[in-house]
Amino acid sequence: MRKIHLGYDLSWTHLEGRWRMPGSWSHATFPDMRIYREIAQIAERGLLDFLFFGDGNGIPSTYQGKRDGAVKWGLGWPRLDMSPYIAAMSQLTQHIGFGLTYSSTFMHPFYTARLLNSLDHVTGGRLAFNVIASSRRADAANYGFDELMEHARRYERMEEFMDVCFKLWASVEPDAMIWDRTTGQVADPHKVHAINHKGEFFSVAGPLASPPSPQGRPVIVQAGVSPRGVEAAAKFTDMIFASSPGLEKQVAHRKRIDDALVLQGRDPAGIGIIWDVVLIVGETEAEAKHRHKLLANALPPEALPVYLSHHSGFDMSKLPAQFTVNEINAEIVKSNASPVGFLNMAQMFDPDQQISRAEFFDAMADHATGADHAVVGDATQIADYLEETFVATGERGGFMIAHPTGVPRDLLNVIDFLVPELQRRGRYRTAYRGKTLRENLSDDE
Ligand SMILES: Cc1cc2nc3c(=O)[nH]c(=O)nc-3n(C[C@H](O)[C@H](O)[C@H](O)COP(=O)(O)O)c2cc1C
Repeated sequence: MRKIHLGYDLSWTHLEGRWRMPGSWSHATFPDMRIYREIAQIAERGLLDFLFFGDGNGIPSTYQGKRDGAVKWGLGWPRLDMSPYIAAMSQLTQHIGFGLTYSSTFMHPFYTARLLNSLDHVTGGRLAFNVIASSRRADAANYGFDELMEHARRYERMEEFMDVCFKLWASVEPDAMIWDRTTGQVADPHKVHAINHKGEFFSVAGPLASPPSPQGRPVIVQAGVSPRGVEAAAKFTDMIFASSPGLEKQVAHRKRIDDALVLQGRDPAGIGIIWDVVLIVGETEAEAKHRHKLLANALPPEALPVYLSHHSGFDMSKLPAQFTVNEINAEIVKSNASPVGFLNMAQMFDPDQQISRAEFFDAMADHATGADHAVVGDATQIADYLEETFVATGERGGFMIAHPTGVPRDLLNVIDFLVPELQRRGRYRTAYRGKTLRENLSDDE
């Protein structure tokens, strides 16, 4: 039976009101390493596939053109580069994988390929790389851009960025290292190759100055939704991240991805989608509903427009008294943020319907915390939902549990209640079979 894979998204647990919810740590706050130490060990006890860290490295400042709201309410800030944390967590665990995010819009592929090679060594082959094309102005401003790079161009750069990374990861052949103590020979020069890449965005001689890592290269993940984003994903990803807007749309997205993969001459059977989903599991349905209510109130009202501005790319202090979703989206597209992000966010409205500011904020309050699209229930109800979605979308991949109310409580509920229920149904591993993350992600029978 095809197994469901599970990741856990830690990107927001310390932000956006979650950090003070009942069930979160009371003895420590971000970025205390004790929190991450405990998370890694709990997650591995539950046989999860990976822990995930998203990224954005500017302080959100879309709302009123100021950082104050984001800083005051902890919206998308603070964030650290989580690579040293992953290195530390990997030393306390043996099997769980780690997903790390870097932006191909700003980073250099030589530095990134080298860093990820080192992390793959440190973790013993348990690394995944979520490559993103950044759509946020606050991030761009830290890398010398006054304006965001045009959307399609960001994906051109991503494709060349990945091309360079792949060449660098292959530049030292798997059996190049010799380490012969008798002769003193370290490596075979015939198996270490320059890449001499000269492209539109990058010029990189190579080779990488590092021995090949356990996985050769990290598991590559990408989350494009727009046609250009999906095209890029189809060219190089091992696995796809996608949001969970409802079964019908997810079935359609799976089909879009499959078609795009076939166009690139790749076999869709080997490329899983990991659906990002807000899951609230309780020991009982009543307990889950209680935690859902807590989640809905996680964000103070004053923080709501700040949050929405950051995630849509539109300054919500400038919303007219009456507007349509399509009118606002046209402004967002002009500013080069995601062409689909706001449409997804405001999908409860007909995009041509006139709405008032009050109606909009009212509907968005539950959206901002994830409460409006949370799947809530006891282990049986949640396992039913996961199985139905998994089967309808081709039984490849699994789910990433996102935006929980409070960690560790919600993580413990997943591994103590949901995982055993999935195991009972034959849909979840009972032991890690592989050594590397790539092996564990494909350990179906
Ligand atoms: C599971 C998941 C994780 C994501 N992680 C990040 C992230 O860490 N940083 C970021 O800037 N965008 C992140 N995104 C956004 C995507 O990279 C992408 O920009 C978005 O889905 C819009 O697609 P498009 O660029 O094709 O319009 C994530 C999306 C999903 C579904």
